[in-house]
Amino acid sequence: MKEFNKNIVLVGLMGAGKTRVGREISMILDMPFIDADREIENAAGCSVQEIFEMYGEQGFREGELRVIERLLQEGPMVLATGGGAFINEKTRENIKESSVSVWLRADLDLLVERTGRTNHRPLLQNTDPKKVLQELMNKRDPIYAQADITVECKAKITPRAMGHVVVDAVQNYLAGEQE
Ligand code: S3P
Repeated sequence: MKEFNKNIVLVGLMGAGKTRVGREISMILDMPFIDADREIENAAGCSVQEIFEMYGEQGFREGELRVIERLLQEGPMVLATGGGAFINEKTRENIKESSVSVWLRADLDLLVERTGRTNHRPLLQNTDPKKVLQELMNKRDPIYAQADITVECKAKITPRAMGHVVVDAVQNYLAGEQE
């Protein structure tokens, strides 16, 4: 399999499967995998939830921008970003320069079902998660659509199978770029 000299960056809403699918892609391609939120937690020495509590969403976003900027230079890697990262214009520019971006698009019911399995996401706490996810979708989908590639997530497909779908899509995209 051809080696990638670009990062593969996964974007999309909470629950789309960026982390799980990202791990599979990294195994298929034998590339390092990094989850941006875990790196932000390592840098801050506390959880995303605690960062939101102590510094607010704005504080989290500033750390997110810096950490992703650094990670993108350390590649090539498979990078799963938090759902809000690609919404930042500067982060989008940084990703454009160094990476192939992939939007994992999932429908609302799937996102609600998957995010409902855990309760660590500050934006979905003490609220109606379906309503919040719908609002985020309305706001963010046109921006996620700026990713180089869009891949549809289906409820029944395994992370490994999704990983292969993404790898094929990235290979086709890169082949087209060279024509
Ligand atoms: C967020 C998504 C989360 C995390 C933070 C904010 C968002 O990551 O970065 O809670 O704004 O959509 P996941 O998409 O990995 O859940």
